[in-house]
Amino acid sequence: MRRGRHRPPRIREQGTERVALGARISRGFVRSPSMHVGNPQPVLDLGTPVALLCTMEEDGSLHLAAVTSAWWMGPRCVLGLHDVSRASANLRRTREVVVNMPAAGQAETVARLIRVAGRAAVPDGGPERGYRCARDRIGILGLTPVPSETVRPPRVSECPIQLEAVLDDVHAPAPGSPLPGDVAIFEVRVTRLHLDASVLADGRPDRIDPDRWRPLIMGSP
Ligand SMILES: Cc1cc2nc3c(=O)[nH]c(=O)nc-3n(C[C@H](O)[C@H](O)[C@H](O)COP(=O)(O)O)c2cc1C
Repeated sequence: MRRGRHRPPRIREQGTERVALGARISRGFVRSPSMHVGNPQPVLDLGTPVALLCTMEEDGSLHLAAVTSAWWMGPRCVLGLHDVSRASANLRRTREVVVNMPAAGQAETVARLIRVAGRAAVPDGGPERGYRCARDRIGILGLTPVPSETVRPPRVSECPIQLEAVLDDVHAPAPGSPLPGDVAIFEVRVTRLHLDASVLADGRPDRIDPDRWRPLIMGSP
C-alpha cells in the first residue's frame, strides 16, 4: 500500500537471488551482524511485485490502477485496496477484475502511470510536477487492451501474466489496525490465466519458470 499520493514510489528493476524452492530473496536482505532491529513502520515496504488492475467504470470505460498489495493463494489472489479508490468501487460493484503483472523492463511505463490521475484528483502543484488527470490511462501509456474470456474488463496485452478474476469476498482489516476504513482486503478467484511464452517453464505450458519471470518490484521512495 502506498503511503500517500504525493510521493511517487521508486520503481526499479531489482536484482534477485534464488533459494532452493524457487522463492526470491532480494540482495541486501541477507542476515548480517549489523542487521537493523526496530519497530515496524506504518507501512512495510518490503518490495513486492507491481500489478496493474483493470476494472470497469459505471460508464463502461476501463479503469487502470497500479497496486503492490497483491499475493496469491492457490487459484486465488488477495488484493489490498484503498477503499476510496475507483478500483475498489469498481470491483465491489462489478465483482470482476483482471490482474496484469508487468515485467521488470516495464518500469518506465508504470512510473508514467503514477503521474496520470484517473480522475480529478491531481496533487497540489501537480501540473508543474508533471502530474495530470486523464481517464484513458491505458491509451496514454501506449498499452493495448485485449478482450478477456471470462470477465468484462480487458487484459493488458503487454503484460506477460494476465489473470482474469471474480470477487469472492471482501474482508475488513483487524480491529485496532491503523488501516480500518481506509483499506479493504479483496479475495478474488482466478477464472482464466494468460501466460506469455517468455515466462513459461520448458515443456510446461501451465507453469511459470521463476528464472524467466522477472517481476517489476516497487521499492520504498
Ligand atoms: C506502484 C504503485 C503501487 C500502488 N499500490 C497500491 C495498492 O497496493 N493498493 C491501492 O489501493 N492503491 C495502490 N496504489 C495507488 C493506486 O494505483 C491508485 O492511484 C489509487 O487507488 C487512486 O486511484 P483511483 O481512485 O483512480 O483508483 C499504488 C500506486 C502505485 C503507483
